Amino acid sequence: MAELSTKHILGIKYLKKKDIELIFETTERFKEVLNRPIKKVPSLRDVTIANLFFENSTRTRISFELAEKRLSADVVNFSAAASSVKKGETLLDTVNNILSMKVDMLVMRHPAPGAPIFLSRHIDANIINAGDGTHEHPTQALLDAFSMREQVGDLEGKKIAIFGDILHSRVAMSNIFCLNKLGAKVKVCGPPTLIPKHIQHLGVEVSHDLRNTLEWCDIANVLRIQLERQDIKYFPSIREYVLRFGINKKLLDSLNKEVVIMHPGPINRGVELSSDVADSDQSIILQQVENGLATRMAILYLLAGKRGS
Ligand code: NCD
Repeated sequence: MAELSTKHILGIKYLKKKDIELIFETTERFKEVLNRPIKKVPSLRDVTIANLFFENSTRTRISFELAEKRLSADVVNFSAAASSVKKGETLLDTVNNILSMKVDMLVMRHPAPGAPIFLSRHIDANIINAGDGTHEHPTQALLDAFSMREQVGDLEGKKIAIFGDILHSRVAMSNIFCLNKLGAKVKVCGPPTLIPKHIQHLGVEVSHDLRNTLEWCDIANVLRIQLERQDIKYFPSIREYVLRFGINKKLLDSLNKEVVIMHPGPINRGVELSSDVADSDQSIILQQVENGLATRMAILYLLAGKRGS
């Protein structure tokens, strides 16, 4: 049987194209399982998974927990706000204590870029990165790419634009790595202050023109402004941002094509997307969430096959 080339999912950077394709094939199988009357399968019986969330999350945390339960794993949840981290314990001590209770896999979200990579050098359990600071959010990129394929088929040569706060977005980073590996053409669009300098070296084009970029792309992946990660002002006001980079129905209807609209959530309605766009037929935002569950089941299932390796 085909297997992943790695025992952790630390970032898209560390995956091969064939790993991504295997995850897509497995996701399709689990999507079918999720549409059955009985949605639970015994694949991960006897596997214990700890979800370690050192940073806020709604979708990703619930999606992982449901994926684990649908696979019959035993699940423990840890949230930093209610833990001994607040009493001064180190990350490695916290994790080693949890692993002593015979936990097989860790799903981890942490504000420090590289935290899951650091842990992977010190522990044996399989680690899935559920977002590390501004670095990577691999499972989001995989569910995004899977959702894009459902819309436009093979992504080779397809035009994908990522809009918004590219500078602070781990979703943007992982999307860029993933789409590059799958042969898509990628353009990022936002105010110059929110686009990292030299990002062209990652193989993407840069634009500051919303309308032109929408005209160019097949799919628009729209991101939130990560105000909580911004210590200085990157643009004059939200009002000005909306005027130049907000996507509304009038703008979409005036284009010569119908662009698919995506967003990883949480949406700031009325900022990057107007409500009538977020809720329109062009938007596949809730399909992304649905695919997220099947994608995470696929990843957990494939990594469970690599336990102890
Ligand atoms: C994203 C995240 O946390 O990185 N959300 C998510 O996982 N669905 C994007 C965001 O917070 O804007």
